[in-house]
Amino acid sequence: MRPSSLLLGAAVLLALRLAVRLTPCRRTPAEEREADARARLAGRRATDYALENIREEERTHIARELHDDLGQLLATLRVDMTLLRQQPVANEATRELLTGMDERLMSAITSLRRIAGNLRPRALDEGGLYFALQSLRHDFEQHHGVACVLDARECELVLNDRYSTAIFRIVQESLTNIARHANARKVRIALRRGSGLLHVTIEDDGRGIARSDMEKPQSFGLLGMRERVWAIRGDITITGNARGTRIAIHLPLPE
Ligand SMILES: Nc1ncnc2c1ncn2[C@@H]1O[C@H](COP(=O)(O)OP(=O)(O)OP(=O)(O)O)[C@@H](O)[C@H]1O
Ligand SMILES: [Mg+2]
Repeated sequence: MRPSSLLLGAAVLLALRLAVRLTPCRRTPAEEREADARARLAGRRATDYALENIREEERTHIARELHDDLGQLLATLRVDMTLLRQQPVANEATRELLTGMDERLMSAITSLRRIAGNLRPRALDEGGLYFALQSLRHDFEQHHGVACVLDARECELVLNDRYSTAIFRIVQESLTNIARHANARKVRIALRRGSGLLHVTIEDDGRGIARSDMEKPQSFGLLGMRERVWAIRGDITITGNARGTRIAIHLPLPE
């Protein structure tokens, strides 16, 4: 055999072997179903994540509009009202009317602040996540008389807006749940960085969440919490026993 035919034969053999290797191995029906389910789940998470981002952006936008537009208008009205009340009035009935108007104006301003604050926590923009969590902790203690400790370092909580908002909302919902359902005396919120992750733990010493509580069809708080965590590819474990409830979250830190 001529050397050129030998070379040609070797090349054909090599090509055949490569072709065999590149042909995808056939999947079993069970594997196909699993791959489909995984692809659907990944698709759903991507959609959830995109939707949550849109919702959060809209909330921020509405909160700013409320604050900058309606808030400014009410503040100006309040100044006008103060000037008006300094003028001599015709009679006592007019004075009472003006006092009532001033009080209602003040409650409108307070409501507006509360609504805008729920839509977008101002503390996040003003002082960052650590400051915002401190405000949550402080308000929780004041309103519910339950001792609450925040164990975190400010320097470890400098995160992008997506992470800060998610963590803030999760802690907010956890505290709301504790106030509504736990009957606790002590709460501890801990945030720590380690091994490329942010570890978030929220613990209370209340009645303890039951497995059946986590499957209530009309409850959305825990569901929303889970979706926020999954949207940033983290994991969340919620456990409860007679000594209380513990929510443990691990979030991969952004590069
Ligand atoms: N810290 C807790 N201690 C004890 N039980 C809890 C705690 N957190 C939640 N639960 C239980 O888990 C259930 C589900 O909580 P989830 O936040 O999903 O819903 P919810 O608070 O009832 O309503 P919402 O949809 O307004 O949040 C609660 O109804 C409650 O029974
Ligand atoms: Mg809830």
